[in-house]
Amino acid sequence: MNKKTTVCGIVAVGPDDVIGQNNVMPWHSRQDFFHFKTMTTPYPCVFGKNTFDGLPRRPLPNRLNIVCSSKNKDEYQSGVFYASSINSAIAACQDFDYMFICGGCQIYDYALHHDLIDIMYVTKIYDKKLEQNIKSGQFKYTRFPIDSNEFFDSDKWVVRRMVYPQNVLPVEKTNTVSKFFKCVRVR
Ligand SMILES: NC(=O)c1ccc[n+]([C@@H]2O[C@H](COP(=O)([O-])OP(=O)(O)OC[C@H]3O[C@@H](n4cnc5c(N)ncnc54)[C@H](OP(=O)(O)O)[C@@H]3O)[C@@H](O)[C@H]2O)c1
Repeated sequence: MNKKTTVCGIVAVGPDDVIGQNNVMPWHSRQDFFHFKTMTTPYPCVFGKNTFDGLPRRPLPNRLNIVCSSKNKDEYQSGVFYASSINSAIAACQDFDYMFICGGCQIYDYALHHDLIDIMYVTKIYDKKLEQNIKSGQFKYTRFPIDSNEFFDSDKWVVRRMVYPQNVLPVEKTNTVSKFFKCVRVR
């Protein structure tokens, strides 16, 4: 019997729904890295080509890494699956209980607008310096493709705050504050 794979999305959204700048994240949060690693290991992680190319260390260890590009041919190379579409990325995960859509903007856009995501893990990032930079209008940012308030304000999603036990999260070296939420799609 084929059991359905639960499709999870995972994203960190900053002020004004910013998620990236110059192909990387415009903050450094040890806590969010810890959260990402904890949630996604040992499950497959799907990336758009831009996001994968921007990873400082790739492929991510202990997880099947799947990279989407229209130029790909649905093949494995050195343990990475190069998918020609998001649907073929999802099909490659059929033997797993969970898989993670890890962005970036184009991949979230497709997955959310095609209603593919069962659970969305949203980290809210609070960072005063970034907030000022965004307000200054001097820099170009990548934004989450939908208003992230939709997870919190609509009856499409049931949202729970996730809180780690004391001393589990690494200490932040920056002034970035992270809050973690689990948003389950109402079907
Ligand atoms: N804050 C967060 O949690 C988070 C997470 C991930 C990424 N990000 C940020 O997001 C930014 C990157 O986002 P992005 O939108 O520029 O790029 P992206 O979504 O990572 O990658 C876009 C590329 O993926 C391929 N693609 C897109 N849709 C596809 C589809 N339906 N089927 C097959 N291939 C598809 C295309 O490659 P081809 O053109 O080769 O066809 C496209 O150019 C970076 O700044 C990154 O740091 C943030």
